[in-house]
Amino acid sequence: MKLRATLALLGLTFAATLFAADSAPKSVTVIKAAHFVDTAAGKVLNDQAVVVEGDHVVSVGAAADVMKNLPTGAKVVDLGNVTLLPGFIDCHTHVTGQPENFYEDIFRKSPIDEATTSHIYAQRTLNAGFTTIRNVGAGNYVDFALKRAIDKGTLPGPRILASGPSLSATGGHGDLNGMSPYIRFEGEIGGIANGVEEVRKKVRENIKYGADVIKILATAGVLSEEESVGAPQYTIEEMKAAVDEAAVWGKKVAAHAHGALGIKMAILAGVASVEHASFIDEEGIKLAIVHGTYLVPDIYNDDYILAEYSKMGYPDKIIAKEKLVGRIQRENFTKALKAGAKIAYGTDSGVYPHGWNGKQFFHMVKWGMTPMQAIQSATTSAADLLGWQTKVGQIAPGFFADMVAVKGDPLSDITMLEHVDFVMKGGEIYKNKLTADAVKQFE
Ligand code: ARG
Repeated sequence: MKLRATLALLGLTFAATLFAADSAPKSVTVIKAAHFVDTAAGKVLNDQAVVVEGDHVVSVGAAADVMKNLPTGAKVVDLGNVTLLPGFIDCHTHVTGQPENFYEDIFRKSPIDEATTSHIYAQRTLNAGFTTIRNVGAGNYVDFALKRAIDKGTLPGPRILASGPSLSATGGHGDLNGMSPYIRFEGEIGGIANGVEEVRKKVRENIKYGADVIKILATAGVLSEEESVGAPQYTIEEMKAAVDEAAVWGKKVAAHAHGALGIKMAILAGVASVEHASFIDEEGIKLAIVHGTYLVPDIYNDDYILAEYSKMGYPDKIIAKEKLVGRIQRENFTKALKAGAKIAYGTDSGVYPHGWNGKQFFHMVKWGMTPMQAIQSATTSAADLLGWQTKVGQIAPGFFADMVAVKGDPLSDITMLEHVDFVMKGGEIYKNKLTADAVKQFE
């Protein structure tokens, strides 16, 4: 009896402790800014204040009203004459690595090198104002490990939707081509899958170990040594199998596709987004519109590849393929935009140095978007593609408190977004060049 009573008492104390921890008041911060981009309405508002409780936004309103009813214990962070925007979303990254030298990267590095350096790239991405990324393609599950460490709060970095290894046909864009058949990488966890059954199995395997999204390589590509740049590499049946199996687990499929035919096949198979979309033709644009498929055109990195990749020892064949793709991809971006296709911001970061993710805004405006459209592509549209439209992409009640600020007006000069002065993610300040408020420490 006595023991039972003691246990009951202990249980009660335990419950009380839990309850107390649960009801402990969360920190409240009020962020004030002279200009505020309402990405849902496509408008700029003046003198706004955002009330942040814990990791999310509870209200947004005219600064004067918010200050009159300041919640007790609230800390006010007045950013001054800045433009406040939601944290940006890059829907196409490879955050676990970036090239240094073509042959050294292949032969002298292991997945352990990638794992030990990837946190640096994650931090650079976050510092650039990209508080969410969809990482579409990383070998050996390095992206899953990185994501876990960031989510636990061990490392600074963006929220990550991770795909794990991209599914590729043998000899396809995700295979190591052009080498001796005797070269094998022992123990590598990759994405090679051929035929409906293997594709289904690989989707299941990726999801088993942590994939939030599935990436398939629907056509050939640039930075790989197969002959074509855009030929289909999966059949419609294989792609349908990927889409169908991913859907069973509540996941979407992103398809890398440069060639016009492969783009249409991927759309018909039901993918959520077509990455690159370089040679998309009129029929493909129409199909994307009818199916509600997002296009994710990486229209900055051509400049970087042509300037830097020969120096990094990339074979001439690859440089020649980039020359086939670069300009036409930009022209087709304009055509798709004018026709009304859905476009989300994705840069293929990792092809160029991480942290430069904001450079693509300029190109999207140059090739036809209004600055507001470009901002929406990296906020509300990107969030919609991710299926996170109620969590990120807006500064609004219930959304994560993910925001960035720049000293000036990005709607008159979009390049301002290449250098953000303030970054908050989940209510924590990670970068602050504007006030004396401390940034989150990792020790
Ligand atoms: N990862 C892509 C590929 O290798 C990069 C394409 C870069 N070029 C471009 N113009 N978007 O195919």
